[in-house]
Amino acid sequence: MFDRIDHLGIAVAPEDLDDQIALYRDTLGFELVHRETVEDQGVEAVLFDVGENHVELISPLGPETGVAKFLERNGPGLHHVAYQTSDIDAALATLKERGVRLIDEAARTGIRNSRVAFLHPRSTGKTLTELTEPAHH
Ligand code: CO
Repeated sequence: MFDRIDHLGIAVAPEDLDDQIALYRDTLGFELVHRETVEDQGVEAVLFDVGENHVELISPLGPETGVAKFLERNGPGLHHVAYQTSDIDAALATLKERGVRLIDEAARTGIRNSRVAFLHPRSTGKTLTELTEPAHH
């Protein structure tokens, strides 16, 4: 069902985003490959390559977004783990059948026109888990 880990999502406060970009790009030496405002998820997202996987910095667009609330509760840091799947619809159906609580019953549009869906942390040992199906070219 899952092909590989796609990315780690790291929550960053808007005022810290430039510093965190500098950390990952200049200090850690990851290549910044993409930056996008993902309105649907209420975030500014910055993607770095780490081998064939990614680190995704996400910063909230407003105080009512999920990531803003996460920052309020937990402060900055690891927000979610994303697994790549080649068939997100089938994966969601299978997981639902196995009793996993879904945040997204159907896939939504994510970064770089991927299709994404989140599983509820109550079903995944408190780790917010994302499924992502890359855009097909
Ligand atoms: Co993500």
